[in-house]
Amino acid sequence: MSKKYLYIETFGCQMNVHDSEQMAVLMQAEGYRLTSDVHQADLILMNTCSIREKAEQKAFSELGRLVKLKEKKPELIIGFGGCLAQHLADKVYKRAAAVDLVFGTHNIHQLPVMIEKVQKEHKKITQVKFFDRLRSLGIFAPPPEGALSAFVSIMQGCDNYCAYCVVPYLRGPEMSRTPEDILDEIRKLADRGVKEVTLLGQNVNSYGKHLDPSCNFVTLIEKINEIDGIDRIRFTTSHPKDLSNELMDCFGQLSKLCEHIHLPVQSGSNRILKLMNRGYTAQDYLSKVERLQSICPQISITSDIIVGFPGETEQDYQETIDMMEKIRFDSVFSFMYSEREGTAACNLPKKVPLQEKRLRLRQLQLLQEAHTQQKNTGLKGSVQEVLVEGRSKNSHQDVMGRTRCWKIVNFKGGSELTGDLVRVEITRGFLHSLRGELIKP
Ligand code: 5AD
Ligand code: SF4
Repeated sequence: MSKKYLYIETFGCQMNVHDSEQMAVLMQAEGYRLTSDVHQADLILMNTCSIREKAEQKAFSELGRLVKLKEKKPELIIGFGGCLAQHLADKVYKRAAAVDLVFGTHNIHQLPVMIEKVQKEHKKITQVKFFDRLRSLGIFAPPPEGALSAFVSIMQGCDNYCAYCVVPYLRGPEMSRTPEDILDEIRKLADRGVKEVTLLGQNVNSYGKHLDPSCNFVTLIEKINEIDGIDRIRFTTSHPKDLSNELMDCFGQLSKLCEHIHLPVQSGSNRILKLMNRGYTAQDYLSKVERLQSICPQISITSDIIVGFPGETEQDYQETIDMMEKIRFDSVFSFMYSEREGTAACNLPKKVPLQEKRLRLRQLQLLQEAHTQQKNTGLKGSVQEVLVEGRSKNSHQDVMGRTRCWKIVNFKGGSELTGDLVRVEITRGFLHSLRGELIKP
């Protein structure tokens, strides 16, 4: 049998990256080999994102490029999956008739059957029904040889319906994998040399909400903390309203839980937070941050912020800036509000003009850059535990790794340190990384 090649193009969040790994595992079991050369591919899978308009534009411009390949290679199969596929379903064919298969966020486990059908029956297939998502979440994607870190999906979907967000419509309601499944996967990862796991979900803080017998997020990470071979635990994303005192206390108590939390605030204005349906006030958020910082003074806090949500006045925006000044995040992902069809915010009046959104975003980003720089410079003189990932891109004499608080550190050292947890004294802080010196044991 001649070899068949699979090329996967992934857009969007870590959950999509992880979903793509699972697609690869499934199709490899059908005899496909992964290729990074799109011209070699017999099957192309696009895993798309729809969170903001820009992500959609990117996916369609890439699709336009890929579709041209089919003119030269008519037997090429193109599958269009992920959030944008879930959103558009059949309409994808209007944009690109050359697509053979449209599959949604819950249909990954059906890929082999669907691809076979496309091949045998030469028919276009659309499958975007929500069902049996836990089956594809549980597909074990073995980490690449030598991988030190891995993502583990523990839940998916969202019940929150923030007014701007399409995720609940495209990923469906929250559902959690059982703790047994998750622990089993992490043990397998540890056996293959993985030392750091990042637990993934749209709202990990409410993990286990529908499980019977029940198991909450804290119990889950306590159990992961006991797995031999795993040195570091991270998780993302947390919703501030579901961040319990019990979970915050874990940062002072669980030895493997890294001192970093990504806690999207979205806005510093109570009026806007209410319109966004976030379920907390700026004061609630601030007091959670203060509690985290008092339990764990070295914790790094990162966030997401949206500017230009409908009705956001100069005063509201200023309240976001004030909050940033008070908290001084380690870093922030900031976005201009992007209207998503079908979300509640579409019906809100007083849309903010693009020009104004751009200006607010730019100012906010400049402020955040200054804060990130100050935070990183402030680490000078401290000693950080670093998990060495390998050679640094900057210099062949250097290796790089990450601190427990998620900062990149470059320091002089040989590649034999790869995979080790070492102690490094920080000598300089830059905007995107730190520099340090290895402390010899
Ligand atoms: N417009 C702009 N940003 C958005 N996000 C989610 N939906 C939108 C939208 N419609 C941002 C939020 C979220 C992050 C993943 O993307 O800040 O936390
Ligand atoms: Fe979207 Fe809000 Fe759910 Fe996050 S919590 S995925 S922003 S609806």
